[in-house]
Amino acid sequence: MKIGVPIEIKNNENRVGMTPSGVFELTKRNHEVFVQKNAGFGSGFFDKDYIEAGATILDTIEEVYAVAEMIVKVKEPIEQEYSLIREDQVVFTYFHFASSEALTRAMIDSKSVCIAYETVEDADGSLPLLIPMSEVAGRMSIQQGAKYLEKPIRGRGVLLGGVPGVPPGKVLVLGAGVVGVQAAKMAAGLGANVTILDINMKQLRHVCDIMPKNVVTEFSSEYNIRKHIKDADLIIGGVLIKGAKAPKLITRDMLKDMRPGTVIVDVAVDQGGCFETTKATTHQDPTYIIDDVVHYCVANMPGAVPYTSTVALTNVTLPYVIKLANEGWEDACANNASLAKGLNVVKGDVVYKEIAEAFDLEYTAS
Ligand SMILES: NC(=O)c1ccc[n+]([C@@H]2O[C@H](COP(=O)([O-])OP(=O)(O)OC[C@H]3O[C@@H](n4cnc5c(N)ncnc54)[C@H](O)[C@@H]3O)[C@@H](O)[C@H]2O)c1
Repeated sequence: MKIGVPIEIKNNENRVGMTPSGVFELTKRNHEVFVQKNAGFGSGFFDKDYIEAGATILDTIEEVYAVAEMIVKVKEPIEQEYSLIREDQVVFTYFHFASSEALTRAMIDSKSVCIAYETVEDADGSLPLLIPMSEVAGRMSIQQGAKYLEKPIRGRGVLLGGVPGVPPGKVLVLGAGVVGVQAAKMAAGLGANVTILDINMKQLRHVCDIMPKNVVTEFSSEYNIRKHIKDADLIIGGVLIKGAKAPKLITRDMLKDMRPGTVIVDVAVDQGGCFETTKATTHQDPTYIIDDVVHYCVANMPGAVPYTSTVALTNVTLPYVIKLANEGWEDACANNASLAKGLNVVKGDVVYKEIAEAFDLEYTAS
């Protein structure tokens, strides 16, 4: 199959849909990979690396879309790309259709085959192509939180790990899912005292078993949250209720119970946030302060570490890319129930119920 890897043209997106290692795996299986010039640059991969792995470098995005039977990328196509996508072309990327009617209608009109990373789903309901980005964000939340605790950026002036003779800081993690576990692990590694809250006892039992002694689990309730915020230095919001807005676990009135300079990082900002005072921020201007509490609410945290994020993402997408290339999309989806869940818009039909419902479009069972 001819596979195209265009440069990401969405603002501030430095990730790329395939690494040279992915190209190598495909070319050794006799597929052809066409990579746009400089597509990997933002993630630290150079054209010569792709050429060595067997790719052909093309100068323009138009050439990549024109030659490829399947496009592999990261972000949803933006308006400039709509007209490049052809009938029957497979596009494998994050789409998040439900948040854009214009994109949905453009892909219907293109008659392409749109397979969305975010809806590829395993039998246990987990979303394997979203997990790596939660892992990145969870780990990064502590790195960022530790930085914003420094006094020059109006934090409490606390070193999370403490030093001999000075106790470590306290980190409160809300949610013991993918984000929460990775955050707790990083904070514990720095030597902080960590408390992690969840409403899922099964998850808390698992966390209790695997974490070091400086991580304590507790059931998530308003009472317990109010108790812990009083002496927490850093609070991480990593809760998720699938398909719903995040619950507001920290309300505006609770800010006054926190110590000045406390840092709160709302990783769940992309689902509306789990703090009442959350508003989405960017890497250019990541924080704001309300009632002396430093808020960090960047909606695309993995974007700041494109090398790690690209490798983490392509580690999990590549097996599906190989399957699609080897078998063609119809057989690959027929033979793999997880991948079939990724089908969103197929040759003019909306085949994912929630997307059809979101825009009152006709739904066609795939
Ligand atoms: N900002 C970013 O850049 C970024 C990046 C990746 C993920 N995220 C977001 O982070 C959030 C968490 O993702 P995840 O992969 O860890 O989800 P997850 O499903 O693995 O974990 C969520 C956890 O929250 C728990 N929870 C639900 N209600 C709770 C409550 N009232 N109190 C405590 N815990 C509660 C659930 O039981 C679950 O264990 C999502 O909204 C996700 O979209 C943001």
